[in-house]
Amino acid sequence: MSKKHLISLLCLALCFCCLAGACNDSGSHGSDYNYKIDMKPYLKYINTTDTQYLVLLNKTHTSGEHYSPDDLVKLDSSMTLYGKEIELRKYPAMATEALIKELHALGYTDIVVTSGYRSYAYQQSLFNTYTEQEMAAHPDWTREQAIQFVLTYSAAPGTSEHHTGDVIDLISTNYVSLDETFAQNPAYAWLVNNAHHFGFILRYPKDKTHITGYSYEPWHYRFVGVKAATEIYEQGLTLEEYLGELD
Ligand code: DAL
Ligand code: ZN
Repeated sequence: MSKKHLISLLCLALCFCCLAGACNDSGSHGSDYNYKIDMKPYLKYINTTDTQYLVLLNKTHTSGEHYSPDDLVKLDSSMTLYGKEIELRKYPAMATEALIKELHALGYTDIVVTSGYRSYAYQQSLFNTYTEQEMAAHPDWTREQAIQFVLTYSAAPGTSEHHTGDVIDLISTNYVSLDETFAQNPAYAWLVNNAHHFGFILRYPKDKTHITGYSYEPWHYRFVGVKAATEIYEQGLTLEEYLGELD
């Protein structure tokens, strides 16, 4: 091979490598998912690896009564059920905007957010309401029995992941009760396998109730950033298992 041919070949190989690298940087961003929407405004947010988004809040890792994130922002009302006011921290809010836009672009136009950040006081009133409802439905139960039952599906104040401002509950405008019916919605099958591309994990899976302490919630998604979400999704873990906090 002549020297000229060798140089041409080397140049060609170099160009190929550069092109491959460029594609990696601007295309799928380390995932094999092809986003339907323009993700440029959202990449900085969904790709965060800041460990503050990995904070664990559950029955044994609790928040103080006065804890409140200092970067709460309102979600656009077009993305919330009945346009109600819902707040999240800035990063998960941007990730949510991207997720909802993507869902709508894919044709799942009925999916909106029904809950986000909750204060301690709000969770307290929610928990009390559920307790009253269970007592009314089971007149033979003591209050303590009702509370123990409510604790399988609702967090006591100070233990709800909603206090982090990193969580969304999704719902269909065609069926506005939060129950397992959400798992029948075609969007759910997509969410289970793709929410991690937006930095979210299904937080309370069906087969992990012994670890999370809560019954299956097909609607509750926790923002942790794409890297952690992808690892959690690919390894089939809960946040507790991922963080090695099993107690
Ligand atoms: N439903 C979840 C467990 C909560 O109340 O935070
Ligand atoms: Zn929730």
